Amino acid sequence: MERSILTAVSNARQPRLRGDYSGARTDHTVEQNWSAYTAAEHSLWRKLYDRQMRLVPQYACEEFLHTLDRLDVSGGIPRFEAISRKLRRATGWELVAVPGLIPDLGFFEHLANRRFPVTNWLRRPQEAEYVVEPDVFHDFFGHVPLLFDPVYADYMAAYGAGGLKAARLDSLKHLARLYWYTVEFGLIRTPEGLRGYGAGLLSSSGELLYAVDSAEPRRVKFDLERLLRTEYRIDRFQDTYFVIDGFEQLIADTAPDFTPVYERIRRMPPIAPDEATWDDVVVRR
Ligand code: PHE
Ligand code: FE
Repeated sequence: MERSILTAVSNARQPRLRGDYSGARTDHTVEQNWSAYTAAEHSLWRKLYDRQMRLVPQYACEEFLHTLDRLDVSGGIPRFEAISRKLRRATGWELVAVPGLIPDLGFFEHLANRRFPVTNWLRRPQEAEYVVEPDVFHDFFGHVPLLFDPVYADYMAAYGAGGLKAARLDSLKHLARLYWYTVEFGLIRTPEGLRGYGAGLLSSSGELLYAVDSAEPRRVKFDLERLLRTEYRIDRFQDTYFVIDGFEQLIADTAPDFTPVYERIRRMPPIAPDEATWDDVVVRR
């Protein structure tokens, strides 16, 4: 089975990252260096873009589709600065270029201040299906369109602040699961049926379809405490997806202080990725 893409939160400690970190500033950012992209890279971007565009109209949430349409990044790797200008007007966010995964605290600090770190390099052609580290296609195509949605944009900033707090409370392991099961692999229930809003789904050729349509995985209604206890696998499609009813619900359910929740679940056993719990509310396709 095709593996799922890795993400920033869980793997920043991974040794031997691909990017060039030598020129990075103390906040881990670099120049995008747009003019250095080759024609072959722009062409690979178009190929990846076209492939996803055949899927997303049917499988992605409408907030994503709406923005993607207006962004018009079909022609090649976008210039982050141009996108940042539009994004600042829409939700106060901007993009910063990074050489790849960065340390947790630096990542949270950017999010809390409405800066989204986007990897500046593109995968190689032989990695069209699967790339071990997130690249510019995953980071941009998967994450950036939803930052134009005001409610989602607020959620991401709240997540950043929540990350800094979880670090102080020694609860990053638990909070990272929230990023994984919402920002990367979240599903949303809409009048048209289940749709993907997680970036790991939106930028994947195989898992988007699998998450929405396959009879195999478990789909359970979003439940904060259940989710924070659920382990995940980074080397294959997910066994369990958490389904929200909308971004307003996501904001509301994650607004309360997590401190007592972290306290409580610290003493509880984790839930395995494929485990069913007695009170799961299963969502049907
Ligand atoms: N409410 C969380 C806390 O008190 C912060 C948070 C908000 C975390 C949204 C993630 C997403 O820690
Ligand atoms: Fe990601």
